[in-house]
Amino acid sequence: MNSEARKSIHGTWTGRWTFILAAAGSAVGLGNIWKFPYMAGEYGGGAFVLVYLACILLIGIPIMIAEILIGRRGRSSPANSMSYLAKEANTYPQWKILGIMGAVAGLAILSFYSVAAGWAISYIFEDFSGPSAEYYGEEFNAFLADGTKLVIFHSIFIFVTVFIVARGVIKGLEVWINRLMPLLFIIVLLLCAYATQTGAFFEGVSYLFTPDFSKIDATVILAALGQAFFTLSLGMGAIMAYGAYMPANQKIGSTALSVAFLDTLVAILAGIAIFPIVFANNLEAAAGPGLVFVTLPWAFVNMPLGLIFGKLFFVLLSIAALSSAISLLEPGVAWVVESLKTKRYVAAAALGLIAWTLGILSALSFNLLSDFTPIGDRNFFDSMDFLSNQILLPLGGIFIAIFVGWIMKRENVLEELEIKEGWVLKVWYFLLKFLSPVLVGVVFVAAVFFGVT
Ligand code: PHE
Repeated sequence: MNSEARKSIHGTWTGRWTFILAAAGSAVGLGNIWKFPYMAGEYGGGAFVLVYLACILLIGIPIMIAEILIGRRGRSSPANSMSYLAKEANTYPQWKILGIMGAVAGLAILSFYSVAAGWAISYIFEDFSGPSAEYYGEEFNAFLADGTKLVIFHSIFIFVTVFIVARGVIKGLEVWINRLMPLLFIIVLLLCAYATQTGAFFEGVSYLFTPDFSKIDATVILAALGQAFFTLSLGMGAIMAYGAYMPANQKIGSTALSVAFLDTLVAILAGIAIFPIVFANNLEAAAGPGLVFVTLPWAFVNMPLGLIFGKLFFVLLSIAALSSAISLLEPGVAWVVESLKTKRYVAAAALGLIAWTLGILSALSFNLLSDFTPIGDRNFFDSMDFLSNQILLPLGGIFIAIFVGWIMKRENVLEELEIKEGWVLKVWYFLLKFLSPVLVGVVFVAAVFFGVT
């Protein structure tokens, strides 16, 4: 039975644009504006960007198509969609675990994501009139040292996320994302325009786009791969969950391409906006997670109407983070609602509570618990980030690729994709069946077992 005949109990997006916006809302978030620039800075600029783009193209997009396909055909939460499709393919029901693991990874990501989103919220109240870029560096450090403040903003963020998911994704999300994502895009463009005026525009841009091949090693590749999964929201069922609400007549392939394109564009623009400011002010490109919280406020100080733009920017960044956070919680909530028949708000509150509790440890890892380093020399926040993005998401991605590439019947795949045999299909199948599992597997083993901590 194809997806036409079945419908998700959670609803269906109204109209074809809604899926693109919702999936883009999930994809575009802190990963693009906060994480991408600081990772590029940490891992050597152009070399990282090149590997990142290759990962998006060769691994990310094929897996995104696979995830949407599983979701739309299964028409349920990732866990139950997997179990439906495993039955359809006459294979082990244990494939369901892939969906459950995804929901767990979602909570793990949400826990630290919410802490970083809390930074964005608190920067809405920043005054944008400081005397220098260094001043904002000190401000940010002082902010991290204040555990109570971090916990408060983290709590606000989780609360709003739970509230929206409890109301139902379709009612809660559609309207907002429709209006706000374009605005975010415009402000990022404005910031790029400002960056051209800094005097270090070309230095910044060439840092991003001139790869120094000697810098590419297993650590950089693993980081770029993890970031490609993270930024496209892949490997944990977010896109799968949204796929379940996708109208039956929408083409999966072109939709996935649009989502990936929008996501990549925002990340690259954020990089173009930030690095010229870094170089013009002699800041450290490898400053880590604080990078945008130091560079952007300084840009706003110098911009006409900077105070207003600054506030607006952090409002929009918080909203972009929110539309991503919702999709981190949704796979678990949909699954609990389906299997325990609880009310949606009960499921959302219960899972939100788990993420909130875990998140407290992340919030305190910059102050009270800074000596607690579970993985390598990473504090709790960085350990959760490492565990979920560089281990759980790529691992989830490998199994999704294997399931759609090797286990599902080709005729069912073709039916769902509404595509005929031909070279496009061949290329996609090749990337999914061979390239992604092998490449992700090799990088993964090399990095984890030969000492990337
Ligand atoms: N893609 C989101 C971002 O870039 C984060 C995310 C990851 C959301 C995984 C959902 C699932 O900010």
